[in-house]
Amino acid sequence: MAATDLERISNAEPEPRSLSLGGHVGFDSLPDQLVSKSVTQGFSFNILCVGETGIGKSTLMNTLFNTTFETEEASHHEESVRLRPQTYDLQESNVHLKLTIVDAVGFGDQINKDDSYRPIVDYIDAQFENYLQEELKIRRSLFDYHDTRIHVCLYFITPTGHSLKSLDLVTMKKLDSKVNIIPIIAKADTISKSELHKFKIKIMGELVSNGVQIYQFPTDDEAVAEINAVMNAHLPFAVVGSTEEVKVGNKLVRARQYPWGVVQVENENHCDFVKLREMLIRVNMEDLREQTHSRHYELYRRCKLEEMGFQDSDGDSQPFSLQETYEAKRKEFLSELQRKEEEMRQMFVNKVKETELELKEKERELHEKFEHLKRIHQEEKRKVEEKRRELEEETNAFNCRKAAMEALQSQALHATSQQPLRKDKDKKKF
Ligand code: GTP
Ligand code: MG
Repeated sequence: MAATDLERISNAEPEPRSLSLGGHVGFDSLPDQLVSKSVTQGFSFNILCVGETGIGKSTLMNTLFNTTFETEEASHHEESVRLRPQTYDLQESNVHLKLTIVDAVGFGDQINKDDSYRPIVDYIDAQFENYLQEELKIRRSLFDYHDTRIHVCLYFITPTGHSLKSLDLVTMKKLDSKVNIIPIIAKADTISKSELHKFKIKIMGELVSNGVQIYQFPTDDEAVAEINAVMNAHLPFAVVGSTEEVKVGNKLVRARQYPWGVVQVENENHCDFVKLREMLIRVNMEDLREQTHSRHYELYRRCKLEEMGFQDSDGDSQPFSLQETYEAKRKEFLSELQRKEEEMRQMFVNKVKETELELKEKERELHEKFEHLKRIHQEEKRKVEEKRRELEEETNAFNCRKAAMEALQSQALHATSQQPLRKDKDKKKF
């Protein structure tokens, strides 16, 4: 026998031995304990309604839960698709249900519908992320955590009788790995019986050929296998919604009244509303919650943790410890940080050098400018000085001339003042 086989045998857990009990012990009440615990805790169920504006989403929700949820009509002018969650506390017998209805407001109203699915995908991912963050916390409180993960997406198909729109196919394809999709044909009273039959076949064919995975009612539980298998063949359900009560015979029933007759919501010959309600609420609600956790959330969690660098085992199937992965990631992060720091430091040094050079160049230019101005100034000064000297010389020459003139003038004055005297003397002589 090979060594590894021996090891496997010695490591294998011993088979539990069966023992019969001598009397009643009480652990057969375990299921009751679980039921009682779950009932006290309450349940949450989150429905996402995707379908074009006015397709009958709110009416169907009101009809399904036999109540009136507060909703406002969406306009056809939303710039992009917007997710609007509303949570309600419902009670039936002693069971509390925290129901969240999320409306994809404005779906299909944009001219460019390329990214119509994105806000929906982002919303679903954000709920998974919130749950993952809660799980990763040191102090987790998953017991009273309000789980907002979407358990089912009711995809409302317009009753055109033709085929699925490409927007429907693209959106369902983007959502099918993230949420349980139940496609429904809305306003089924607006399409004839034979057209509806063909339309259903066409839709299922298109979903299959485009590889869109819709939710299949589970057939592994014997108790519901038969009914679920039958219901799977009825997909997509063709539904009619109405909260209006109409008297049929001597009974009040929910229906839509037309001049030519009455469409009864809960009449299985008129539409598949009862089938949808049975499958969604009465038979498979827990499976939808379970699938959300074990399939869709698990996939999100796995991708997210792998993205963060966590792995279960390496090539030799040696389990990776969380600590090792953390250390490796930490080292990787630190070296990346160091590299970035060095890069930034180098960038800073280069920038300083560049600025220094620029400043030096500026200084040199300024200096040159200053020298130039200084030279001009000196030249000007010299010219002014020369002018001043010339002016001084001219002033001196002028003063000299002035003095000479004055002297001449005084001589002349003196000469004229002497002449009458001589004349007088001459007169006296005569
Ligand atoms: P927004 O929230 O504004 O996008 O609309 P909605 O999808 O919630 O549609 P809503 O339930 O407000 O219904 C819009 C109109 O369609 C109303 O006049 C409803 O009476 C009508 N309607 C709803 N369900 C049905 C149906 O099954 N058949 C028919 N013929 N009309 C319906
Ligand atoms: Mg609405």
